[in-house]
Amino acid sequence: MKILRPNSIAVKLGVIFILLFMVLIISIQAVLYMLFIRFYTDDVLNEQIQRTQRYAEVLSDHFDQPTIQHLLLVESGTDHLLLILDQTGNIRGQSEGFTDLPPQELQQIKEHGSLDHGGPVLKSNWKSEPFFVTEASIAAIGQPLGRVLMFSPTDPIRSAAQTLKNTFFGVAFIVLFLGAAMILLVTRQVVQPLLRMIKITQQISQGKQVTAISAVGNDEIAQLSHAINRMSQNIEFYKQQRKQFLADISHELRTPITYMKGYSEVLIHNLEGSEESRKKYLTLIYDQSNQLQHLIEDLFELAKLEEGTYSFELSKTSLDKVMQNALGMMADSIEKSGIALNYNPSLTPLYVHGDAKRLQQVVINVLDNARKYTLIGGSITVSTLKEETFGVLIISDTGIGIPAEDLPHIWDRLYRVDRSRSRATGGTGIGLSICKEIVTLHQGIIQVESTEGKGTTFFIRIPIFQDTTEEIQTDADCK
Ligand SMILES: Nc1ncnc2c1ncn2[C@@H]1O[C@H](COP(=O)(O)OP(=O)(O)OP(=O)(O)O)[C@@H](O)[C@H]1O
Ligand SMILES: [Mg+2]
Repeated sequence: MKILRPNSIAVKLGVIFILLFMVLIISIQAVLYMLFIRFYTDDVLNEQIQRTQRYAEVLSDHFDQPTIQHLLLVESGTDHLLLILDQTGNIRGQSEGFTDLPPQELQQIKEHGSLDHGGPVLKSNWKSEPFFVTEASIAAIGQPLGRVLMFSPTDPIRSAAQTLKNTFFGVAFIVLFLGAAMILLVTRQVVQPLLRMIKITQQISQGKQVTAISAVGNDEIAQLSHAINRMSQNIEFYKQQRKQFLADISHELRTPITYMKGYSEVLIHNLEGSEESRKKYLTLIYDQSNQLQHLIEDLFELAKLEEGTYSFELSKTSLDKVMQNALGMMADSIEKSGIALNYNPSLTPLYVHGDAKRLQQVVINVLDNARKYTLIGGSITVSTLKEETFGVLIISDTGIGIPAEDLPHIWDRLYRVDRSRSRATGGTGIGLSICKEIVTLHQGIIQVESTEGKGTTFFIRIPIFQDTTEEIQTDADCK
């Protein structure tokens, strides 16, 4: 399975989780084991101490043969061995049913009278000793009479411990198996979408068309899927745009070249033609090459703007000065086109953080559009005003307007509402793309409102200049 490659995230996560799981289970089991053994041995030993003590008390009251026999009878048949010694260490009684009295211990008792004189517990190590041994003294009125010894085998404890170990081992194995299966399932849930994303991004990088990744919920994986989907849509959009642009540009270049070629052919074949007709064709060729040159220059400028290699000098700039300079250059041609021009300067001095030359370029572009798309008798009104954070340039005309469906596209490269009409006006559809780039590089906003047949208004907002200490740039050096 691809998901189980050694360096796959599923395996790494799985191994980490399983190790953590094992540490947890083993620690819990170790604690349980210790507690169980401790309680068990304490219980057995305490019970044995009490029994030994009780017998010693009974014998302290009646240290005679009937009592000894009675006690031995009580103890016979159990897995305990009761041993009653007199003061000299002689065995006065030994319970039956316990055949294997440890020979070593018995020998020691016979030789030394007792095992030890260390207290109620003589042997309590269940792991290494075969018996627990407890002891109690028999005494009457301060006179020692003998001892009671009790032996109980530690075998049952060892076998209980072993059973417990086996059970814990079995449980650990089952839990580990179930845990591993569960972890694998969960990691697969996480890793599967990741694998799908890897596949999709590989396809994107190979330029293939991809289907959107389905994402459920809003966790990090789903967010990543959404981001990849958005990225893929954007790439698709840019690919589409580039295709469209290439188609548009080849069309734009082909048209003037076809004209020039046609006129030159006419000239070549018409060398004897009149001076007047030759001049006419040469002028047409000149106009077309001029248009071609404009197109290429505009494209080059736009490319530089988009690339970010355009040099900008942002400083304190008077917006009214920008407007006045632009009007100075455009007023004549506007008036010649039979269009009235009105100017409402701002009431207070209006300085923005801008590059005067570039801003003027924007205004000239927009003014030129207003002139081109306004009929004789119409008017153009320009205003400057101050908003809280922006200086605003408003350029309004009573021209033909822009259809609502074209409005979002007028900023696109080479986009013209009516190609044949704008060809007549010499437009290439790049002017507004350049304007938008320049305004955006000023952290400004350019917007348009238009009603077909009534007119168009452009709003250009440039951030207000904040620092009053900087030198005022009044005279813009504009082309
Ligand atoms: N004031 C306006 N009134 C009506 N249509 C306009 C106006 N301004 C722009 N447009 C439409 O938007 C299109 C794009 O304008 P843009 O300035 O980008 O290109 P252009 O003027 O055709 O060519 P150029 O690159 O020479 O500026 C124009 O072709 C025109 O159809
Ligand atoms: Mg234009």
